[in-house]
Amino acid sequence: MAKKKSILDLYKMKEEGEKLTWITAYDFPMASFAEQAGMDMILVGDSLGMVVLGYNGTVPVTMEDCISHCQAVRRGAPNTMIIGDMPFGSYQVSDEEAVKNAVRFLKEADMDAIKLEGGRRVASKIRAISDAGIVVCGHIGLTPQSSGALGGFKAQGRKVDGARDMILDALAVQEAGARMILLEAMPPELTAFITELLDIPVYSIGAGEPCDGQLIICGDMLGLFQAFTPKFVKKYANVAEVCVNAMKEYVDDVKKSAFPEDKHVYHIQDSLEDFEKMFEEFRK
Ligand code: KIV
Repeated sequence: MAKKKSILDLYKMKEEGEKLTWITAYDFPMASFAEQAGMDMILVGDSLGMVVLGYNGTVPVTMEDCISHCQAVRRGAPNTMIIGDMPFGSYQVSDEEAVKNAVRFLKEADMDAIKLEGGRRVASKIRAISDAGIVVCGHIGLTPQSSGALGGFKAQGRKVDGARDMILDALAVQEAGARMILLEAMPPELTAFITELLDIPVYSIGAGEPCDGQLIICGDMLGLFQAFTPKFVKKYANVAEVCVNAMKEYVDDVKKSAFPEDKHVYHIQDSLEDFEKMFEEFRK
């Protein structure tokens, strides 16, 4: 069993050029699969709103949803570094509320760090949470919680002005005390530049290869989430198809009395005659 990573291990990996592997998980089985697969890190993303809870976006996800899913993921992956994702509304109102909610991830769900979305506009929140002794992961680029303000789920930094904004955001996140940063949906040229510019580890989801590691959404890579597949996803399996086919087979089996079979039942431990006698008592 590999040892649980710490922030220092992440810095060492960056220094040595070893890529970090990171996946989302929202429940006990997925977390345990990730740990068995040797994943370096897990994110309990608020993408759980779309992948697991069936919402159209991440905005409706609550602190209670996140804490409960983080607890399940921790039980499934006790030896993996896990980051809890702060949901929309849990850190925007004030620095104090941001710290209070970040603390809940550690105290109630045993998370190792928290992630929050935004650059310059959330710098005071990152500073306050970091000052409370909590490891913060920044997240810039396509930030799903503010997809409304961005005009949809759109890649960022594809033009010079937008790219400049991304660089300023990345610098602000590092300056505010974040210990790592996630870039979402931006061109690899910009990712490479930001990775070279910053001292903290830089990870990508849809931001190309030239950085310190990759994050992927479990529902996307396993083919569990069926609503849409972003351009940046590589689908490694089609679990939805496996599930639907298995359930169809079960439906057929039950309809034609092919399930359960003799091997699926508990056999009587007294004679059939004794059972018949007992049944007779009720028939009288
Ligand atoms: O919630 C999540 O899974 C995320 C990723 C989209 C980066 O924040």
